Amino acid sequence: MDQLHQLHTGISILEMTYIIASVLFIFGLKMLSHPLTARRGNALAAIGMAMAVIATILFHQKEGKPIGNIGLILTAIGIGSIIGWVIAKRVKMTAMPQLVSFFNGMGGAAAALISMMEFPHISPGLIAKSGMANGQVLAILLGLMIGTVSWAGSMIAFGKLDGRIGDMRIKAMKYVNLTILTILIGFIIYIMTRHVQASSELTPFVYIMFLISVIYGVLFVMPIGGADMPVVISLLNSFTGVAAAMGGFLYNNQVMLTGGILVGSAGTILTILMCRAMNRSLLNVIVGVFGGGGQTHVDVTGSVKEISISDAAVLLSYSKKVVIVPGYGLAVAQAQHICHELDKLLEEKGVEVKYAIHPVAGRMPGHMNVLLAEADVPYEQLIESDEINPDLPNTDVLVVIGANDVVNPAAEDDPSSPIYGMPIIKARDAKNIIVMKRGMGKGYAAIENMLFYNDKTRMLFGDAKSTLQNLVNEVKSL
Ligand code: TAP
Repeated sequence: MDQLHQLHTGISILEMTYIIASVLFIFGLKMLSHPLTARRGNALAAIGMAMAVIATILFHQKEGKPIGNIGLILTAIGIGSIIGWVIAKRVKMTAMPQLVSFFNGMGGAAAALISMMEFPHISPGLIAKSGMANGQVLAILLGLMIGTVSWAGSMIAFGKLDGRIGDMRIKAMKYVNLTILTILIGFIIYIMTRHVQASSELTPFVYIMFLISVIYGVLFVMPIGGADMPVVISLLNSFTGVAAAMGGFLYNNQVMLTGGILVGSAGTILTILMCRAMNRSLLNVIVGVFGGGGQTHVDVTGSVKEISISDAAVLLSYSKKVVIVPGYGLAVAQAQHICHELDKLLEEKGVEVKYAIHPVAGRMPGHMNVLLAEADVPYEQLIESDEINPDLPNTDVLVVIGANDVVNPAAEDDPSSPIYGMPIIKARDAKNIIVMKRGMGKGYAAIENMLFYNDKTRMLFGDAKSTLQNLVNEVKSL
């Protein structure tokens, strides 16, 4: 049987499959970085994962014996797959971030469970010895801590994104969280340096560590709100990857290690990029401190002025340069197709149309890119905010469609604002501004937006899809 598993090179079928699966993960991840190849990339990585799971069930051996409890394993895979499939099929595009958060939390929970299951199995006397044994204990404890924080934090993030949990801002939170983090590290050092006969003597400490990690996960996500959620989600995502990689160390399983490291490093890179995009420091993300103290009072000066569909159509049709700023409302209204129809019509009339893409517009990283790619808007028309901002003073009309926080000047003007310091699309620099939204509803950060009261701004109230449809009809009739 062993010979059957062994190729000529000495590499077993299992190891060979793990290498192929790891390569598929890497290519899959690479393809995810472009909207055109993302779907295939996802499928490729999923095939890699399926191969790794099937090969493990068929060929993994422990002390010369094949894997047991196959019936239980297949039942668990079956139940998980059905639940995952149904939820993913039913979820609305706009509820995607909650789903991502929830699934991410499940990954963290799985890593934490592995640690809790494996700790009591460490051979007596192994703890506090040098070398591999200590490495194993460290992998278990880090997997437990990081996996639990990721699970608890993701559940809170899920509740917040779903509007079930509000913010809880306490001034001293930073110090409380730093203290808890120090206690957790203290536990790890204590467990690793104790000389005991049986790991069971230390198991209660591991359960206490689990409870403290839950508290940390909850407390570090609780104060974070509004515009800062995406950074936290991406950080939690990287935590789950690192926790899974710890499992890879523990079991000496290459594919688990590669998968975990890829998720961990991709998540960390994304977190750093998001921190830069939001002008936040990484330490503040880790201890749950964000933004300003919270907007207390805003003096609204100026008045809200409306524009009719026909006036908007004329203004757009006779412009040279138009910039569209899409936001969460465009996704809610599913107005991306009709929006593209408007931009094509304007281009036929000789107007140059570009889209200004803010890194956290919508509710998930790359949300606007995905949405507009779905409507076949050419990629070259999408310009990142940093790049388009200098061009806005030369823009005749800037059309905000269902965006709010990402064009809010409070990020530049009001130090007490929770979004203060976040780079924005400098909409107010354009010569004319048209804002499409249903009413005077606030954005995700739940704060007033003075752009709507600006002298150059005209509001076009209504659902984005029907407003755009009316606008398209009007532009056609000109
Ligand atoms: P938001 O600030 O959330 O504003 C969206 C606006 O769309 C609302 O003010 C709403 O106003 C309008 N709207 C809703 N439904 C509409 C419809 N059917 N038709 C027309 N308008 C509609 O959006 P944004 O500017 O894209 O900013 C995104 C926010 O979400 C940021 O604060 C960001 O940090 C946060 N966030 C982002 C992510 C990621 S990774 N992108 C994840 C979580 C949170 P009315 O009610 O008046 O219509």
